[in-house]
Amino acid sequence: MVGEVDVVGAKNSVLKLMAAALLAEGTTTITNCPEILDVPLMAEVLRSLGCSVEIDGTTVHITTPSEVEHRATSSAMGKLRASVCVLGPLVARCRRAVVTLPGGDAIGSRPLDMHQNGLRQLGASSHIEHGVVVAEAEDLSGAQIWLDFPSVGATENILMAAALAEGTTVIDNAAREPEIVDLCVMLQQMGAKIEGSGTSTLTVYGVPKLEAVQHRVIGDRIVGATWAFAAATTCGDITVRGVQPQHVNLVLEKLRIAGAEITTSDEEFRVAMNRRPEAVDFVTLPFPGFPTDLQPMALALSAVADGTSMITENLFESRFRFIEELVRMGADARTDGHHAVVRGQQHLSSAPVWATDIRAGVGLVLAGLCADGVTEVWDVFHIDRGYPDFVANLGQLGAAIERVGENA
Ligand code: UD1
Repeated sequence: MVGEVDVVGAKNSVLKLMAAALLAEGTTTITNCPEILDVPLMAEVLRSLGCSVEIDGTTVHITTPSEVEHRATSSAMGKLRASVCVLGPLVARCRRAVVTLPGGDAIGSRPLDMHQNGLRQLGASSHIEHGVVVAEAEDLSGAQIWLDFPSVGATENILMAAALAEGTTVIDNAAREPEIVDLCVMLQQMGAKIEGSGTSTLTVYGVPKLEAVQHRVIGDRIVGATWAFAAATTCGDITVRGVQPQHVNLVLEKLRIAGAEITTSDEEFRVAMNRRPEAVDFVTLPFPGFPTDLQPMALALSAVADGTSMITENLFESRFRFIEELVRMGADARTDGHHAVVRGQQHLSSAPVWATDIRAGVGLVLAGLCADGVTEVWDVFHIDRGYPDFVANLGQLGAAIERVGENA
């Protein structure tokens, strides 16, 4: 595949920024939003809380009333993971929240203990009953919070609640993902006092009120890196625009070791592979480690690479379900606990395969592009939740791909 591709805003950022709009009365405008299914779903969640939301292409306007509804129990809540990020803002604004347990990708157990513990440290009670999280607080007061693990969602919920708490909160072992930095930037524009953004210690000096602002979402590093993998896996040459190369440093370094030629500039990078990729090992870890969301793409690359790769999954145990589908296409891969060993093959062979989540669906498409014959990927609605214009982009890059059946 050869050509250029533009990447829009990050799914894992925009949904949290939309939740953050609950923190301030008035109209928040978010630009560079991806046109993916999860954005209207999150809009539905916010409307059920009393906001009016207008989606105009890649711009979303959210008008938050002075009094926000504290019950987030609409059916949309169960359709995406990021819906849980209304918990922190609701506790902050209403001092109580009833939030349906979130849905999202079935990639392993996704508990909320760190979200709840963090809110408890700030002075809120929190328990789960009948499939909802119930949280209540007379007052929120700053606290020292140590996270067991740098959870993205827990860091975001605690950060948003702490922004309107009284006094100073320190979150230690906080997540450092670029999407957390994006959220900090927007909160700071809104008037929040935050130090240490992008480091593992976040200090939040609570303020009584935040203001609605306009904010541009950062480029989607996972989508950008997916195109980098597409180039490396198919021996192509793809220039990716709209993503900051420093957000995908480790990914590009891995692909360089696999044999790709990498060039980077401001908000652009190019990945060119002119021979069969060499096998590389991958270990998933929180940022700046290798992203778990790219593990299926790493497996697809390893399946056709020259040599044997070891892939270690440290975040979501069920992600290796993807391997069963890859094996249907002739991959030589086996798993043991959270390790997978993949012996690269010269060719894969086409087969009907099933997408089990967003990233697995994309991994199967990449593998299908390297397989002899026509590969059918089923349940591609998963891909719509994270990748705008996926099939059109692939077609422009020269892939022989067609969307058929429902939603074609
Ligand atoms: C977010 C991303 C997801 C990405 C993940 C890790 C969104 C909508 N999703 O998910 O695409 O794969 O970060 O980069 O932004 N954990 C607990 N208790 C908790 C919270 C988390 O044990 O209270 C564990 C999880 O089971 C997992 C690990 O911590 O093993 C990391 O999860 P977390 O960073 O919270 O991921 P999400 O925010 O759910």
